[in-house]
Amino acid sequence: MEKKLSLLLDEIKKSLEKAINVKEIDDIWISIFGQSGVFTRIIKEIQNIPKEKRPEAGKLTNQVKYNLEELFIKKRQDFSHKELENGIDVTIPGNIPKKGHLHIVTQAIFEITNIFEKIGFTKVSYPEIEWEHYAFEALNMPKDHPARDDFETFFINQPAEPKFGKMVLTPHTSSGQVREMLKVGKPPIRMINIGKCYRPNWDISHTPMFYQFEGLVIDEGINITHLKGTMDYFAKEFFGPERKTRLRPFHFQFTEPSFEVDITCGVCLGKGTLEDGKKCRICKEGWLELGGSGMVHPNVLHSGNIDSNKYTGFAFGWGIERTYMMKSGTKLDDIRLLYGNDIRFLEQF
Ligand code: DAH
Repeated sequence: MEKKLSLLLDEIKKSLEKAINVKEIDDIWISIFGQSGVFTRIIKEIQNIPKEKRPEAGKLTNQVKYNLEELFIKKRQDFSHKELENGIDVTIPGNIPKKGHLHIVTQAIFEITNIFEKIGFTKVSYPEIEWEHYAFEALNMPKDHPARDDFETFFINQPAEPKFGKMVLTPHTSSGQVREMLKVGKPPIRMINIGKCYRPNWDISHTPMFYQFEGLVIDEGINITHLKGTMDYFAKEFFGPERKTRLRPFHFQFTEPSFEVDITCGVCLGKGTLEDGKKCRICKEGWLELGGSGMVHPNVLHSGNIDSNKYTGFAFGWGIERTYMMKSGTKLDDIRLLYGNDIRFLEQF
């Protein structure tokens, strides 16, 4: 059958080459796919071959049929364009519009949301244009506190409001933490806040607009083991079962203690060296930095009217683009490509 099909394919290609107009192409088509056409006969023969070989034969004929159809469409279009001079050929097959797909960042947002929803987090969104109060003061970063310098911020040109301060383009999704506490009122809280953030930076690992996802869990008895368990769960779901995380002490104003979350490198799998004994160039000694996390600072709980004697919580906030770039198989070395709107780049994902 395979031989027959390949001979047929060659024969058809030859006769198509000889065809001089659309009519001749149509005649060839009928001689192949018409009621007593060669291909139609071959298809009927499938019934006579042994049962176990039929699926394979079916697959093969389908493939050849598909290739033939493509060949005919192409050939017919070529001729029809030439024949246009003699009038419009209304039988030219239409141009099939190209299928698009969601942007990779949107895909990553869906994937991350899904992973956290599976363990009971609720997805929320909070304003992109935010008060200084929620972006900083409520998060234990009073005015003039040097930590605020790390969050270079876009300010909206409007007079400050007495209680909430100036308006800013939110520099991080942490500003949703206190909003969530005030909205929910009473723990338990398990939120995943995903949104756009803004900071005036532009280089291979920064764009002035980027996405973060922020987790916040508050309840009675929440401790660091819950944070670590959640980080491990996420890393395994998003990056793969072989990946591990570690918490490295760090400092943030809104968490105490604070950590950077690291994940084992997907290239050297946490060893720091490759099979040939050379140092892994992707990571630092086997670990890659994912983002910030920590136990919610009591002052932040107070901003959200939550009793810090009764409740504790953990939080984490990471960049979506950066997290996505670290997924193995995504060889992205310049974050700006994501927003360059070059369709040739975006189509690959
Ligand atoms: N908001 C911090 C930033 O943008 C990241 C962060 C650190 C979020 C620690 C947190 C956290 O929730 O606990 O750099």
